[in-house]
Formats: sequence, C-alpha cells, structure tokens
Amino acid sequence: MTPDLPPAKTIIEPFRIKSVEPIRLLSAAERCRVLEEAGYNLFKLRSQDVTFDLLTDSGTSAMSARQWAGIMVGDESYAGSPSFQRFEAAVQGLTGLENVIPTHQGRSAEFLLMQALRLTKGDVVIGNTHFDTTRANIEHTGALALDLPCQETADTQSEAPFKGNIDLDALARFLQKDSRSVRLLIMTVTNNSVGGQPVSMENIRRARRIVEPLGIPMFLDVARFAENAFFIKKREKEFEGRHVREIAREMFSLCDGALMSAKKDAFGNIGGFLAIRNPELAESVRSLMVITEGFPTYGGLAGRDLEALAIGLEEILDEDYLTYRLRSTEYFGEGIRSAGIPVIRPIGGHAVYIDAGAALPHVPWREYPGQSLSVALYNGIGIRSVEVGSIMLGSRDPVTGEEQPAPRELVRLAIPRRVYTQSHVDYMVEMIGHLAKRLGELRGYAFTWQAPVLRHFTARFKPLG
Ligand code: F0G
Repeated sequence: MTPDLPPAKTIIEPFRIKSVEPIRLLSAAERCRVLEEAGYNLFKLRSQDVTFDLLTDSGTSAMSARQWAGIMVGDESYAGSPSFQRFEAAVQGLTGLENVIPTHQGRSAEFLLMQALRLTKGDVVIGNTHFDTTRANIEHTGALALDLPCQETADTQSEAPFKGNIDLDALARFLQKDSRSVRLLIMTVTNNSVGGQPVSMENIRRARRIVEPLGIPMFLDVARFAENAFFIKKREKEFEGRHVREIAREMFSLCDGALMSAKKDAFGNIGGFLAIRNPELAESVRSLMVITEGFPTYGGLAGRDLEALAIGLEEILDEDYLTYRLRSTEYFGEGIRSAGIPVIRPIGGHAVYIDAGAALPHVPWREYPGQSLSVALYNGIGIRSVEVGSIMLGSRDPVTGEEQPAPRELVRLAIPRRVYTQSHVDYMVEMIGHLAKRLGELRGYAFTWQAPVLRHFTARFKPLG
C-alpha cells in the first residue's frame, strides 16, 4: 500500500551534515561587554562572539562534500588550467554566453566592465536598483548611476509579487528624452537593495525590448539568479511547469552579458565572473584585467576555487534546495512578523528586512532606530544583523553639511546558505518574540566617531538616555 499522508508542515533541510563547526553561546552580560568594547559597532565584533551571523549571505555558504572534493582536484597552473576549463564550461552551459572571465569577486567584475566600456562624465547607467558597489564603480568613472525601481517598491507592505522590477514607463520616458547618454542597463536579480525582491521574466523581456532598438546593452547582475528564477517559477504562470534551469537559461538569453558575485548563488566562499556575448568587449576586459586580477584563466582565484564554483553553479539549481531556501527565509520572516515586528513584504529570497523605523516609533531617525534594534538583537540573542538605514545610507546636504535621512530605517537579517538549521531559525523566532515585547525600552544611539566615507564600517557609538 502507498500511504497517503498529508504534506509535512515542518521544513527540512534537503541535506545532512557531515562536518560541523561549534558556535559559541555567550551570556547576555558577556555580549553586552564585548559590544561596548566594539563601540557598539557590529562590524567590529570578533565573529567568534556571534552566535547567529546574519551580517551577509555573501561568501558565507557551507560548501558541499562534492565542492570540497573539487577543492582537492583543483589544478593550479598559471594558464589554461583544466579547472578553468570546467568553470568556463559550467558558466557557458548555464548562461549560453560564450566569453567567460573569472574575477575574484563581484565588484571586480563591475570595475572591469565599467572600465572596458570607457564610461565617462555625461554617461548614464540605468538599473532596477544598482547594488552599492555597482553604483560606486559606475560613479568612479564619472558616469551617473540611475535607479528606476518600480512603483510597488515604495510600499513596504504591498504583496506585489515582483517588487524587484524596473519601472518600464520611467525607463521609456528617460530614453525618449535622452537615449544617447545611456550606455548600459543593469537588471539586478534578485534586487538586493529593495529587499531581495525578484524581477519577473516579463519585466526583463520588456526592458530588453525597450533598449535593444536603441543599441543599449543589457547586463544582468546575477548574484542571486537561482533564487530569482525560482520566484519566477512560483509566481509567473507561464513558468509553473518549467525547470528552474530552463528559466535561468531564458533570463540569460535576453541579455548581452552577466556579472556575478559567485559568493552568493554559486555557494562560493570567494569568486565572481563576467560572461559576455560580444567578443570585442570581452577582449578589452581580458587586456585590462591582467593589471589587477591576473591572467584571464584564473582572474584572481585559485584553480581550486574555480572547481568549487563550477560545482556550486550546478548544485544551486536543485529545486528541492530552492524550495527549502525560499520557504525557510519566508518562515523566518513570518515568525518575526507574527511577533509584531514589521518586515518588508513579501519576504525576499536571501534576507528578512525589518522596518526598524516602524518597530521603534519612539526613536527618531537622528537617533538611528536600525542601530538600536541591531544592538538589541545581538545583546539579547547573539544575532549579528546589519543596519540599512541612515547610518549606512544617510547623506549630507551639499550646501549646509546637514545630515539627511535614508528613505527607510531597516535592519537586514541575511541568511547564509546551508549554514543554519531550522531549529536555529525556531530559536531566533522564539527569542525575537520575547524581544518584541520590550521594544519600547530601546533607546537611540549617537556617533562618538565617524570616518568621512563608508562610516558604518568603522564608526563608534554611544547609547542615549
Ligand atoms: N551585486 C549584488 C546584487 C550584491 O548583493 C553584491 C554583494 C555585489 C554585487 C558585489 O559582490 O561582494 O562579491 O564584490 N553583496 C553583499 C551583500 C556584500 O552583503 O549583500 P562582491
């Protein structure tokens, strides 16, 4: 007999554990002491003092037994290594893009592309929302990095399924006014800066249709391409029955090239690549990269890294893994929301974003509610998160020097891949439930020292009142 049982409610990891690392469980008093010593800056903590490190999902994945086996057979030849050949074949097979150039991480791929395109002052690069390092690499050339996120993004509570989309009308309007200065369109999938929200195939197709006749190339930033493809499968009717590999392939078929930080959806601890259709552009990148990244068949990586990435790019397309990944992140977000703490809706792929401004209405933006909540998550539970609010993204009025707030005061809880178990998630949800009842007691913070740029990495703070 085939027992006809209902589907399980419990989420399980579709893998078992072969190798473990201890995590330290400090007392709340110990955590308060080490964070005070770190000037209340979570970036300055020793990671041994963190129980749940949700600072980033980048470079923090657990590699599989197959990837570790790949590490052992990595070939370290300076040029033409078989590990490069396997990496190249994996990227070509996945993307259909001919010219594959490894780089040491995502931002070096961005740097090389912007330099190879010879961007300069007066040029514009449009995106659904450029990630910070992409923006920095565009602006470094003197060009303008323009974000055109879709309207639905503005409402953090709307349940729109593809809040990572670009605003197609705004794109068309801008190009009608001025298409000559636009040198590149970058679609970031998923859209990290608006909450890890996916971009629909429809949106990628229509964006393509707008820029193609004007000769403007479209690149995809594919740091989290598999999560995006799986959201498409789940939310876009046309793709319901298609395998995620085919969906990814269709996304790639629409672009002129892709940039990847392989520290995310390739389960890599380091690495990235550029994959380019146009052979001349690829040749310019290859000539440039020798100065900084190294020879074009290793791009700043060891042969063993290339092996691990080639295997990771295959493993990420396992639909059981992706089902678990998106469900587990959603479950975490739902748990936090049920505790009464507002989160960006719907839950994205790689992270839960808490709306700290709404959670702590008694802390004004000048006293940094995101910082206050991040400190409480560490002191109370041992979770390291990151403030994505006025400390990280605030600006200064160019005339008065007066500080300006970020659009939102968020705290990001990014989930490393295959690292924490469901019982870890349950534990965090339970403890966040206790913390939720005490939010009224949390106080704001003030800077005691800050660097002139990228202040969030090194600043020191003091608690107020
Ligand atoms: N693009 C996106 C969408 C990213 O999220 C990142 C990194 C990069 C490019 C740059 O890649 O770090 O390999 O140089 N995001 C990390 C994060 C740092 O925490 O979200 P990289």
